[in-house]
Amino acid sequence: MSSEASQITVPKFRGMKAAGQKITMLTAYDYTLAGLLDATGVEGILVGDSMSMVVQGHPNTLPVTLDEMIYHAEMVGRAVRHALVVVDMPFPSFHLGVYKAVESAGRILKETRCQAVKLEGGTAQAEVIAALVSAGIPVMAHCGLRPQNVLQLGGYKVQRDLDQLLADATAAEAAGAFAVVLECIPAAMANKITSRVKIPTIGIGAGAGCDGQILVTNDLLGLTSGYVPRFVKAYADLQTVITQAVTRFRDDVRSGTFPTSEQTFK
Ligand code: KIV
Repeated sequence: MSSEASQITVPKFRGMKAAGQKITMLTAYDYTLAGLLDATGVEGILVGDSMSMVVQGHPNTLPVTLDEMIYHAEMVGRAVRHALVVVDMPFPSFHLGVYKAVESAGRILKETRCQAVKLEGGTAQAEVIAALVSAGIPVMAHCGLRPQNVLQLGGYKVQRDLDQLLADATAAEAAGAFAVVLECIPAAMANKITSRVKIPTIGIGAGAGCDGQILVTNDLLGLTSGYVPRFVKAYADLQTVITQAVTRFRDDVRSGTFPTSEQTFK
């Protein structure tokens, strides 16, 4: 997966919709996991602001800073040879005016090896999306449930206002976004949006009709403790695997069966 020809560029990613190819995306926050994901051939890796919750242990995505996103995105960008790497613009980096948004997104591209930014919004953020795109910064929009709005929403709720959803997705496309994440919306609404826009829709809790799917990797690997959203499918139970491995190590140390002569220098 290391040749330049296999690199997923923004035009290639966007073109997958017209070619009828499904797009797979996952989140990564560090070098080791990003390299593992990339080697599987997934088309997109997102350095998500979900890092605030799954890496930093915060109750929502609001606390993570631009500097922290850049620190982790640089590690991910260094590991990835194939996938398109997209970095979330953290709250409130794109709400402080167009100039600040371009400055923040510009830092992301300059200080990491990543190729695009993602920001939550549609109609209200169209001006910012257009400014970023005209500065040469590829933008993935994020409509439907916008986790950065959790305080206003009072929780992570399914979004059902079809007119607003359509307006947001089409405004993002018109402003120049190359793809749009659709989070937590009924499948029938996601299907309508997917057939209305020419850019790929990447669903999370938006049904099977989207052009691609994204999950938080910790959820997919069964590393999430506590509340797990209904749209998650855990493909492994790494919590159990890790707990069992660490318990065996602890027991071996306590009983004197680790290290053996195999792990010992003569
Ligand atoms: O931050 C994130 O991980 C995301 C995905 C859930 C789409 O925005």
